[in-house]
Amino acid sequence: MEHNPDIDKDCGNCEGLLNCLYVTPDTRRLLAIIQKGYKIMGKIANWEQLREYRKILKKVLSKSRYEHVLGVEFTSASLAMRYGASVQQAQLAGLMHDCAKYLSEEELLEECDRYKISVTEAEKRSPYLLHGKVGACYCKIRYEIEDPEILSAIIYHTTGKPAMSILEKIVYVADYIEPKRDKAPNLELIRRMAFIDLDEAIYLITRDILAYLKEDGSNSIDGLTKETFDYYKRIHDTKKE
Ligand SMILES: [Fe+2]
Ligand SMILES: [Fe+2]
Repeated sequence: MEHNPDIDKDCGNCEGLLNCLYVTPDTRRLLAIIQKGYKIMGKIANWEQLREYRKILKKVLSKSRYEHVLGVEFTSASLAMRYGASVQQAQLAGLMHDCAKYLSEEELLEECDRYKISVTEAEKRSPYLLHGKVGACYCKIRYEIEDPEILSAIIYHTTGKPAMSILEKIVYVADYIEPKRDKAPNLELIRRMAFIDLDEAIYLITRDILAYLKEDGSNSIDGLTKETFDYYKRIHDTKKE
């Protein structure tokens, strides 16, 4: 195969490569199948893909929410570098985690009904919690993101859950500490801790969230947030022994 100097294309992915090389139709078909396979597994979050998703999110989200998701994308990538996780997965999960955040509570419930997404009692009381589940559903059906690790990180980014995967932890923490956040108590400490001990950062975050919700008195404490706190508090207590 010879390089075609007349076509100046990005060669960072199969499509770009195909455009700047002379290849037989059979090879072209084979490479297209391989690329589709990779996309289906969600293992490729190339720059082109991220750029496309950013464009979509810029249109559907408010300006400040869009800036927030860029912050979570950036922070997730940084944490992935720190903990040796996949930077590509972290970027994509961080970018897409709030992709359904523009829906009203009523619309979230309607989407759950439409896509047969289960709704817990706590979610019925506080439907905003559902933007993780609906967001993961949108990622799958609208944006062709099939990677179960990414989808799970999006589902649990609001409540966390006991024994989270590294990617789930990264997106959960990044959502709380991204550069645009400025209201949470102990933010400086939690930001530092996130790069020292991720489990301890989750303990601090869930502790502060529960304290805030208790003070708020709105009765919107989700059972899963409490379970997440209990789990990471046990890890915290073990370290002190
Ligand atoms: Fe969110
Ligand atoms: Fe968020």
